[in-house]
Amino acid sequence: MKRKILEVLHHAGTEFVSGQMLCEQLGISRQAVWKYMTQLKEQGYILESVSNKGYRLQETPDRMYGPDMESRLDADGICQKIEYHDVIDSTNIRAKQLAETGEPEGTLVVADQQSSGKGRRGRSWSSEWGTGIYMSLILRPSLSPQQTSSVTILAALAVAKAVDRCCCQKSSIHPQIKWPNDIVLNGKKVCGILTEMSSEMDYVHYAVVGIGINANNASFPEEVASVAGSIATETGDHVDRQQLVADIMNAFGGYYCGLIKYKDLSFVVDEYNGMLANRDQEVKIYHGMVETAKESEIEQGVAQGIDNQGALLVKSNHGIEKVVSGEVSVRGLYGYV
Ligand code: BTN
Repeated sequence: MKRKILEVLHHAGTEFVSGQMLCEQLGISRQAVWKYMTQLKEQGYILESVSNKGYRLQETPDRMYGPDMESRLDADGICQKIEYHDVIDSTNIRAKQLAETGEPEGTLVVADQQSSGKGRRGRSWSSEWGTGIYMSLILRPSLSPQQTSSVTILAALAVAKAVDRCCCQKSSIHPQIKWPNDIVLNGKKVCGILTEMSSEMDYVHYAVVGIGINANNASFPEEVASVAGSIATETGDHVDRQQLVADIMNAFGGYYCGLIKYKDLSFVVDEYNGMLANRDQEVKIYHGMVETAKESEIEQGVAQGIDNQGALLVKSNHGIEKVVSGEVSVRGLYGYV
């Protein structure tokens, strides 16, 4: 019920919503409306109530709250259900547990903090309380495992698009994508994506797309401090994390429908390449870990953009090479981008 009340209040924006209207639309009594409004106020929502006018939402607390995020989702979008945790080991681990026990496609696990956040290539993901966004979406695509791996590219696009819309309207900087799926603002990494899949040779049981966003973080652990930034540090503005979660899910839904329809990335290649931070730039391709790779494991070339399968096309002395994600890391010649 609180999801529905918040949906009406968010939709009304700065307008008042009459108690009578809420009763009729939600099929509940005046006392019930009053009870839910009181509960929301206790949770930190600032609600103005004026007799003869009704209720108006003035401020939402900076906390992740499942019903509130759900109230901002597209009615026909991919995500319809959010499972919220204050603290969890890893939203990817929880989403995989849910998927194993039959949870349908479209459930999103969100947490305010992770105690064992996982990054790519066995790294950890710093996940302090209340500043970042940690979330994992369960998918069950009717695609091959290879086609399914493209969801990571689409998640990066959805994050970049939503961050631009939600957080960069007042700023002169805009998000870019560092292949395959890091989002950068001002050259700083503000988002990482870890997709995990359970599949057979030609059948996908499920995929979990885990998205970590540095939203309002002010500082970072020493080991990532030179590379990482947050949306707030780079734009100078505080991020409405709940709105950003909903905007990402709403954007991802459209891209995911496209992938199911076309079965490759042909419909977004131009859009993705338009946001690619390394496009037409000299890049180094590391076949080992970046920190420990030997000279023989590093190649150099100019990044051209992705192909319909999401591979990065790199022009080198040997011609155009297709670099496949998961096998390598790509860095700029003089730094991370
Ligand atoms: C990367 O190394 O760039 C990927 C980081 C992915 C982190 C996110 S946070 C939400 C989800 N849960 C995890 O444990 N990891 C992903």
